[in-house]
Amino acid sequence: MTYATALAHPNIALVKYWGKRDETLSLPATGSLSVTLDILPTTTTVEVDGSLRSDAFALDGATASPAALERVSRFLDLVRERAGDDRHAIVRSTNEVPTGAGLASSAAGFAALATAAAAAYGLRLDERERSRLARRGSGSAARSIVSGVSVWHAGDDAASFAEPVEAPPLALVLATVDAGEKPVPSRQAMRQSVATSPFFAAWVDDAERTLEAMLAASAAGDLETMGRLTERNAMRMHAVIQSNDPPVRYLTGASLAVLDRVQRLRDEGVVAHATADAGPNLAVLCAPGDAQSVADAIADVASVAIAHPGPGARLLAAEVAA
Ligand code: PMV
Repeated sequence: MTYATALAHPNIALVKYWGKRDETLSLPATGSLSVTLDILPTTTTVEVDGSLRSDAFALDGATASPAALERVSRFLDLVRERAGDDRHAIVRSTNEVPTGAGLASSAAGFAALATAAAAAYGLRLDERERSRLARRGSGSAARSIVSGVSVWHAGDDAASFAEPVEAPPLALVLATVDAGEKPVPSRQAMRQSVATSPFFAAWVDDAERTLEAMLAASAAGDLETMGRLTERNAMRMHAVIQSNDPPVRYLTGASLAVLDRVQRLRDEGVVAHATADAGPNLAVLCAPGDAQSVADAIADVASVAIAHPGPGARLLAAEVAA
């Protein structure tokens, strides 16, 4: 029996990934840029055991749903194929998300799983290779392999990985308005956007140009331009999602209340801009020195947590045959 334990954090995209070019290889239609956080990690242990007749998956101490086990098992197949090892494994994962934080993160989950599974099956992968592998579990997981701010290249299979980029000091104030399950899973809504939104081609075109501008602003240390691009990109992604057939709307009245507060902060001269993933919750980008006042300004309309750029996925422990 061999095992490995890895830890990974969620990431928040400032230029979003929305839409796949290749479903099987999990290749995105566009590049994206995100911040790996320093809070809410996922810890995952993969125990490879030749006596098991199938894989098993426990999430926060309870047996995971058949659908979740299936997704983990298909991911382990990729690792087994590369390692030339057909043994099954027990996967145990715990999310340090405080109850109600609403940041259910497949990104941290698959980044931790990729790191632990690769080690447990004896694969020696560098960061780039692990990012490519994590991508196959959940696209955005490619970015949680990397610390701090990273860009995930659209590329082909070999070139589609995340790598670090230069960025100024920043903070993200997470504003949770609803910790419940989202009505439509992001995978499904993403697929619908590609297939049915009349705006999807324009989104792709715009996202590429926004990514270029974001990389330039990040390298220049221009947090205000980064923020402006971040909020604009998020609103455009949600506009595309709302134009799906049938339409999907993730932002709720409570989300809009947070967006209004962020606008008010800007009117008062604070550099703060919001983004939202495929759900009603927001993350507000600001300078580290403004994070507490931003959090205070929205604390009555959302539950808040302050995050900063955090470490990439890493191995915590392993016992693997030589
Ligand atoms: O986590 P995934 O791979 O299903 O993608 C979700 C994409 C967004 O979170 C909405 C945007 C992003 O780039 O993270």
